[in-house]
Amino acid sequence: MGQAFVITLREGNTPLYHLQRCASLTGIDSLYAKHQGMNPTGSFKDTGMTVAATAAHATGFHWVACASTGNTSASMAAYAARGNMRSLVLIPEGKISWGKLSQSLDYGALTCQLRTDFDGCVRILNDLVRQKPVYLLNSVNPYRIEGQKTAAVELLEQLEWQVPDHIIVPGGNLGNSSAIGKALLEMHQLKLISRLPKVSIVQAQGANPFYRSVHEFGGAKLEPMTADTMATAIRIGNPASWKKALRVLQSTGGEVEQVTELEIAEAKAEIGADGIGCEPASAVTLAGLKKLSQRGFVKPGETVILILTGHLLKDPDFTIKFHRGDLFEGTLQEREAVRTKQLQRAPVVLDATLAAVISALEAAEKIP
Ligand code: F0G
Repeated sequence: MGQAFVITLREGNTPLYHLQRCASLTGIDSLYAKHQGMNPTGSFKDTGMTVAATAAHATGFHWVACASTGNTSASMAAYAARGNMRSLVLIPEGKISWGKLSQSLDYGALTCQLRTDFDGCVRILNDLVRQKPVYLLNSVNPYRIEGQKTAAVELLEQLEWQVPDHIIVPGGNLGNSSAIGKALLEMHQLKLISRLPKVSIVQAQGANPFYRSVHEFGGAKLEPMTADTMATAIRIGNPASWKKALRVLQSTGGEVEQVTELEIAEAKAEIGADGIGCEPASAVTLAGLKKLSQRGFVKPGETVILILTGHLLKDPDFTIKFHRGDLFEGTLQEREAVRTKQLQRAPVVLDATLAAVISALEAAEKIP
């Protein structure tokens, strides 16, 4: 492929952070976050999109398209714009965050909010690409999977090729876990690494078709479901790459876990309090780790990497509602949500006086 076709926004080389507070919280000292939300459009999608958009460009496509819960569409719209291609975005109406929606508008995509969920958007897109010369950029696209392998390669390089014990990944459509697993298996075959880390996948309880597939049917089948979670990025009921993800679990010895809405919100605030932050879907990794460690699958002396998939600023609504204490208002978890109080840092509205600020400061000093 000629250099002239390459579309890049200088993605990749994302940071690996030690999570100090989360480490002491979980009792796992060697706890790190590989932050894929530090990519140019704020999510892990960019490393796959540079490859797949370049393929579309080199093949001469004028239109690219995807169904998305918001991050793929943001990424695709940016890369399409850079390559002078038009982009068509199909997203579920009302179920994506403003941050992500605003990106696809700003990057100039034709953005269609369909009155359905993500799975409904995928069905329509699959029919569309059979009729129109539109290049499909969903994660079933093999170039996207190839590009998303980068995170695992970078990670090993950052760890100076010392293999971690666990890598924990959020699971939605299951493309990312498949890509990371593929990279690890290939690096193992090439003898770049001497053993495989266990890759575990975490889903939201309300969007857990893969969890159920593994725990109820031993991975023999996957029953699609109607998904619901405030972590809208992973609100997916019929994941395309579940068979690939299953092979990753089996070949690395990983687990699949599920976490509640409350556990996601708490974990997100805890990652935030570490000065790192992420979007809700990424926080399932820490929430899942707590459960995996409670059941003894992850041990205190082991090295654990959480793959944070999206930036904190992707979904400010969630964060603001959480800190104001109204995220769970009117939901079944409203009473239980009282336990998140100590993590909340609501803004304080004060009179514009020095005395008011000093008394707020003194009050805050009493809180650890
Ligand atoms: N985390 C974030 C922030 C995501 O945006 C997604 C998927 C996932 C995790 C799950 O990754 O699907 O590879 O298992 N977002 C897609 C989208 C579906 O359209 O943006 P997966």
